[in-house]
Amino acid sequence: MSHSNGGKGRPILVELPGASYPIRIEAGLLEKAGPALESLLAGRKAFLLSDTTVWKLWGTKLLKGLKPLRPPVILIPPGERYKRLATVEKITDQLAGNGAERSSILLVFGGGVVGDMGAFAASVYLRGIDYIQIPTTLLAQVDSAIGGKTGVNLAVGKNLVGTFYQPRIVLSDPGVLQTLPKRELRAGLFEAIKCAVIGDPELFQFLQAERERILGCDPEALRTVIRASAALKARVVSLDEKEGGLRRVLNFGHTAGHALEAATHYRHFLHGEAVAWGMLAAARLAVAHGRLPFADAERIRSMIAAYGPIPSLGAIAPATLAAHLAVDKKVRDGKLHFVLPRRIGEVEIVAGIAPREVIGVIRQLAKENPFSNQRRAPAPARTRRP
Ligand SMILES: NC(=O)c1ccc[n+]([C@@H]2O[C@H](COP(=O)([O-])OP(=O)(O)OC[C@H]3O[C@@H](n4cnc5c(N)ncnc54)[C@H](O)[C@@H]3O)[C@@H](O)[C@H]2O)c1
Ligand SMILES: [Zn+2]
Repeated sequence: MSHSNGGKGRPILVELPGASYPIRIEAGLLEKAGPALESLLAGRKAFLLSDTTVWKLWGTKLLKGLKPLRPPVILIPPGERYKRLATVEKITDQLAGNGAERSSILLVFGGGVVGDMGAFAASVYLRGIDYIQIPTTLLAQVDSAIGGKTGVNLAVGKNLVGTFYQPRIVLSDPGVLQTLPKRELRAGLFEAIKCAVIGDPELFQFLQAERERILGCDPEALRTVIRASAALKARVVSLDEKEGGLRRVLNFGHTAGHALEAATHYRHFLHGEAVAWGMLAAARLAVAHGRLPFADAERIRSMIAAYGPIPSLGAIAPATLAAHLAVDKKVRDGKLHFVLPRRIGEVEIVAGIAPREVIGVIRQLAKENPFSNQRRAPAPARTRRP
């Protein structure tokens, strides 16, 4: 995959039996939403779902792009705490109230919260209507809008009710990221770093070399990052839609990351930030098990530091962390299945990692603060061209 020309304009395909769909990534796509969706929207009722923050910032632009179509708009309050069944009921009530039929289509316009919940609502309303993802956060553009995992939270845990239900198309406009708070942008970039470590060394190099442009929200630089990350996710999902095996590689950084999020009641870290700590922990574990050269772990650390800062680990009680590691979905037969890097661009799933080892590594990281003195970009890696 070449990131120099980025395959401009060519959609990425998620290839699934009977449910393949394209992902289009272009600056200015919002203004062209009408032509981009013409064949999908022709002759059917369309509805729009968004949150009030996104709508205030970008609603007018999207509506202009969709002209002369003017779909009814369903708005929900922003925030993870609204990602629950009660909100799905409100959404589906409004769909029904506005006469949505089996052939109707829902345009889901927002970050991962709106995306997960809108997709879930589409999957259950009248036993399933079509939907379109128009993601507006970097996290949603590189990750959550792709792959068809939908869902909402329960009081006892995140994403516990949901479905697998694929969109008909994903439209990502890097231009909308101009208004995204910088911390949210960086959180999304940690998922992009994850994609690079899993399977795209060229993306890793791009993230190293173009840090300033990326953090400065240069739409071309962001487009390259989104495109490479989306392509990686599309490739993995195409091979393993329902997380039977391969798709688990996408959980790199997430075993420890989820435990850290849960242990801090989802208030201390943004998801991507917890994943960043999780990737640091996984790289350490991989070195300790002799599976990753120290130099590669150092490159991963230095990259994460360059896209920091992230909130410190603080004082998380080991027992709390252990309890959350134990309930992780990736525990099989009481042992942790950990995604560990082998080198930049390749990971493996390793069975039998003891939770106490993970806790040990996290305590070490908490003491050291791998972000100290790391405000500058890491030097570009010297790699041989094939
Ligand atoms: N389905 C999946 O495969 C998958 C994968 C990863 C994460 N997720 C889910 O994604 C959710 C997190 O998504 P998120 O990080 O996008 O959070 P989010 O949807 O809560 O968005 C973050 C905040 O940014 C605001 N926002 C959105 N777009 C904006 C823009 N362009 N400009 C300014 N503000 C904007 C939102 O209103 C919100 O306040 C979690 O619920 C997580 O479980 C799902
Ligand atoms: Zn994630």
